[in-house]
This record gives sequence, structure tokens and C-alpha cells, in this order.
Amino acid sequence: MSTDSRTGAAPAPTGPLNRVDYSQRIPNNVGLAGDRRLQRALEGWQPKFLDWWRQLGPALPTKDVYLRTAVAVGRDGWAHFAHVPMDEYRWGIFLAERDPDRKVHFGKHKGEPAWQEVPGEHRAALMRLIVVQGDTEPASVEQQRVLGDTAPSIYDLRNLFQVNVEEGRHLWAMVYLLHAYFGREGREEAEQLLKRNSGDLNAPRILGAFNEATTDWLQFFMFTYFTDRDGKYQLGTLKESAFDPLARTCQFMLKEEAHHMFVGTTGVERILERTAELMREHGTADVFPYGGISLDVIQRYLNFQYSVSMDLFGSEQSTNAGNYFTAGLKGRWMETRREDDHVLLGVTRELRHVEGGEIRTRTVPLLSALNLDLRDEYAADCAGGVRRWNRVLAAAGVPDRLHLPHEGFNRKVGVYAGHHVTPHGEVVDETTWRAGADAWLPTPEDRERVAALMIPEYEYGKFAGWIAPPRTGINDQPVEFDYVHLADEGLV
Ligand SMILES: [Fe+2]
Ligand SMILES: [Fe+2]
Repeated sequence: MSTDSRTGAAPAPTGPLNRVDYSQRIPNNVGLAGDRRLQRALEGWQPKFLDWWRQLGPALPTKDVYLRTAVAVGRDGWAHFAHVPMDEYRWGIFLAERDPDRKVHFGKHKGEPAWQEVPGEHRAALMRLIVVQGDTEPASVEQQRVLGDTAPSIYDLRNLFQVNVEEGRHLWAMVYLLHAYFGREGREEAEQLLKRNSGDLNAPRILGAFNEATTDWLQFFMFTYFTDRDGKYQLGTLKESAFDPLARTCQFMLKEEAHHMFVGTTGVERILERTAELMREHGTADVFPYGGISLDVIQRYLNFQYSVSMDLFGSEQSTNAGNYFTAGLKGRWMETRREDDHVLLGVTRELRHVEGGEIRTRTVPLLSALNLDLRDEYAADCAGGVRRWNRVLAAAGVPDRLHLPHEGFNRKVGVYAGHHVTPHGEVVDETTWRAGADAWLPTPEDRERVAALMIPEYEYGKFAGWIAPPRTGINDQPVEFDYVHLADEGLV
């Protein structure tokens, strides 16, 4: 057990090389002890982070949670699992290992050594990229704050908390970069990351999707599937950055991020399993009376979360995105694996847009359309998950299928903003849109029906009636393992 009430128990590291130093107040593998100024600055930020966590982190009181903590950044055995009181979680600073020969892969600096310091000319742009990424991390914790009150099982509750502590760690990752490389301005931005709050009218989070409340577990699973996946793609572009500390930070974050998307993929899958079962058992599509979530409502939640996540990629055409690429700040998804010159001068691509009431295509310079390039990669990845979900329906003998809506559906950002596009990709007028909207987006009634099912199930190994149990537990533990000890479980 912990002897230090501020920072909690250190897990015993058993991982391979490039260990994380857990003897420090802030666990890290960046040699923080050798930089007193930086260490002091971060130790000054730490209590503010903990205040934020206690105020806006998970609301459900718990004794401890079976959590994974990073102990090394190498390929294998990087994580340690143990029951930890959540506010004693060892949030730390972990960068992937440094490749001393790493070169810039793209843009005008292609072939030059990667940067270990921030070049003056790119300082403002790099800081902005880090702040925008950093802002999303605590935002999702705030959005998911009350979900613990209605968890469908202790297994799911644990996964929610794992995602939450790791989003907190991602905030640490960005704050480290701000403190270490951007001086006083960086420290001020780090303070602001705790002062903006999701949905706050006066000081909202920077991006729209991070100000929407996560109202129920169906939305949480859709969020971790679609919105955490946006995070994966954004981190994927920053992982290519010529600014090496940013690239290495994002590389390690991606490792943690995989679990967040696993939660979304399998969460929706398990809901579909249960829905399909109830549909067959009762011979009806409306399974709400039997304690399940109807497919049409699942589709509307999907439509919503996909469309707001598509907006996170920004405008299809963006001079900034092109400039970031050329400068070496942000690459494309899988940049090093692309078979082109990685400079892209004179390269073009097609861009769909709305003109004269229909969707048309025009040719634009690829450099101006890199947000779209990334969004297309994301959309293809999302389609893969939907295929996986549909296999569950097929296996259960249910003929209905889920679909990704058209890229122009319900968009507030970019070429489709201001137009009305149906999920099938038809451009329609305002009246038609209004008439159809209830069939395409979750209605208040849908949300109420889902909310009515959100009754917590805190008995080990038991699951709420609207979701099937997972096939396996976490870290080889059984499904019925005591993943979470609630604060008041002695009274239940
Ligand atoms: Fe994250
Ligand atoms: Fe995430």
C-alpha cells in the first residue's frame, strides 16, 4: 500500500529495458531528476491536476480499481496491472525510445535529422497543435464523469476508469511538452488546459465534439469507437513529426489508445449480440420492452457520433494543414509507408463538395487537402468496425445491417456545412431534412428510452440486460473478477 498519500504505490517494474523511473514523485523515462527547473515546474502543476481529477474526474466513489500502469516503453511487457486507488494512479511522462538516427521523412526538411528542440519559426504552430491535442484528453474525462453511476457491469466500470486515467496521462504527456519546450507561454497553456471544461459556456473545450455530454453507455461505446479513433489518427500524424519529442510522445500514447478503441468496438458488439438475441426471441425489432436497445436507435447513435467525429478533422481544404506538412510538423497517416515523394508538390486529388444542390467532384492540390486525406483513412477504418458489427447480426440470423452515414451527413465543418445531406448522400432542402431528422439522429425520446435501461449492475460477473458479457476478462482475469471495489460496497 501507499505510504505517500500524494502519489500512491509504485508498481514493481518487471518490464524490459527503458524502464520508467517510479522512485520519483512524477514517474518518467525522460530523466526528469536531471532537470531541476523542469521537475519543479511539473511538480507545481501536479497538485492542480489532482484537484481537477477530484473535481471533474469519475464521480462514483471507489476504493480501488484494477488498472494498468505503464512500467516500460519497449515492445513487450510494458504494462503492470494492480488494484490502485484511482487518485493514487501514477500518472507519468513516458516517451517511446529515441532513435538517434531518426530523420525527417517528409516536407521541405526531408532527409535532415529530426529536431530535438523547437525551431523558432515553428514554435507558435507546434504549441497550437500540442494545445489542441492536449485539450481533448481531459475533456473526455469530464464528458464521462457520471457514467460510473450507471455501469452495466464491474468489468465495464473498470474499462471506463482505465480509459479515464489514461486520458489523464495523455494530458500529462502534452503538459510535459509544453513545460519542457515552450517556456513561460507553455506553462500558461498548461494551466489553461485545466481551466477550460467540457460544455462550460464561458470556457469550453476547443473542439465541438468534446463539449457534447456523454449521456449513457451506448454513447460512451460509440464515443470510444468513433471519437477516440479520431484521436488515434491525429496522434498518427503527430507521431510522424520532425519534432522528435512530440513524435515519441505520440507513439507511446497510441499504444494506450488501442485499448480505448477495443472498449468501443467490443462494447457495441456486445450490445448488438444482446439486441439480436432479443429480436429473435420475441420476433420484433422493438426490443425496448424486453430490456434491449433497438437497432434503429443504435444506428441513430452511430450516425450522430460518426458525423461529429468527422468534423474533428477540420475543413477538407486547409492551407494550415498543407503548411504543417511542408514544414515537417505533422505528417500523413503512415507517412513512411506511402509510396510517393513525401513532398507532394504538384500532386492532386479529388474532392467532393456540394454545388447546385448536388454532390460534385473537383480536383485540388493534395497539399491543400491533407485533412481530407486523413479523414478518408479514418472513414475506411470505421467501415471495418461496422463490418465486424454486422457479422454479429448475420451470425444471429438478423437480416438488418448497420451502415456508416454519408460523409456529408450532419456536418458542421467543411464543404458540407450549411447543406443538408441525408445518410444516403442525397442533398435535400431544409423541409425534407426536418422531416427526416428524427429517423436519422437520436431523438430526445430515443435518449430517454436508452437512459431508462441504464441501471447499474455492480455484482461481480453480472451484466445489465441490454448488453452481452465479454468472452474474456482483462489481463487473463476471469470476467467475474473483482475489477473494482466500490467505496460503499460493504453497505450493499
Ligand atoms: Fe487520449
Ligand atoms: Fe483515448
